[in-house]
Amino acid sequence: GWVEAVRRKLLNWYDENKRELPWRQNKDPYRIWVSEIMLQQTRVDTVIPYYERFMESFPTLNRLAEAEEESVIKAWEGLGYYSRARNLHTAVKEVAATYGGEIPRDPEEISSLKGVGNYTAGAILSIAYDQPVPAVDGNVMRVFSRWFALQDDVAKLSTRRKMETIARHVISEERPGDFNQALMELGALVCSPLSPSCDICPVQEHCQARKEGVQAELPVKKKA
Ligand code: ADE
Repeated sequence: GWVEAVRRKLLNWYDENKRELPWRQNKDPYRIWVSEIMLQQTRVDTVIPYYERFMESFPTLNRLAEAEEESVIKAWEGLGYYSRARNLHTAVKEVAATYGGEIPRDPEEISSLKGVGNYTAGAILSIAYDQPVPAVDGNVMRVFSRWFALQDDVAKLSTRRKMETIARHVISEERPGDFNQALMELGALVCSPLSPSCDICPVQEHCQARKEGVQAELPVKKKA
């Protein structure tokens, strides 16, 4: 079927074209967690040096849990949105105290941690723990909007929920973390916001927006 074809093409493309990023060295859930928090409001290129320094200062979850908040904020300096760092520190201390330092695999438990929303929970559970759950960020919403030519306003929570339902249907059960990261990587490298490179897209023949010639008009994002 076509879903299987898209899955296979996307994963093959990812295997050939993915960037070597420091948080892709292994599947340590703590390392994945920190990367996803940093990447929420900050670009990949900016994050890399901060991430490497942060990991030298706080190489394990327990080391971060034991740190003074001041030193955590200091390590975050320059990344901005400091509530991300404070929430991460709070949540890491909770994991150390309540879960013996092991980040929970249960979707409800992980989502109850401070600063861990649907996206971050899905990213950690799929990338680190191989669970077939959605991790829908802005990149993924843009890819889905174009793939299925969806006119839904991506600024709406109801649209995000709809995209998560789509993601549950198309995700690879064998390689869920790679599949989610392949969608993000496609959004970053090929299916870009202003001028998508459809001519080099591995799934161009399956894209409804391209078929209709509306890829540059999607996704729809109404101002708040
Ligand atoms: N943006 C957010 N998470 C990412 C990831 N794991 N890889 C690449 N870009 C991302």
